[in-house]
Amino acid sequence: MTKITFVRPGGEREIVNAEPGHSVMETAVDNGIDEIVAECGGCLACATCHVYVDEADLDRLPPPSAAEDAMLEATAAPRTLCSRLSCQLKATPELGDLTVHLPSEQY
Ligand code: FES
Repeated sequence: MTKITFVRPGGEREIVNAEPGHSVMETAVDNGIDEIVAECGGCLACATCHVYVDEADLDRLPPPSAAEDAMLEATAAPRTLCSRLSCQLKATPELGDLTVHLPSEQY
């Protein structure tokens, strides 16, 4: 099972198991990670599921789609090269364990 480590803005880490095929956003919501708001439920319409993927994991991820890339322009916290929308990141065995840093704001 894929383990996802959520790092809160203050540095606190929470490690949770992701159901296969679930998104990082769904995994966060299911486990009470409040920093992920996910207002649109994963429809790529809100950018309130913004995360910063750990640099060590960045190269293993598929690149964002054009629609995700466009929506990343609407994040509340600054966009960086590590920015992704967690509703678009699926937990799969191929992906392996993942660490994401939570932004301090989603609005
Ligand atoms: S949950 Fe709305 S864009 Fe990801």
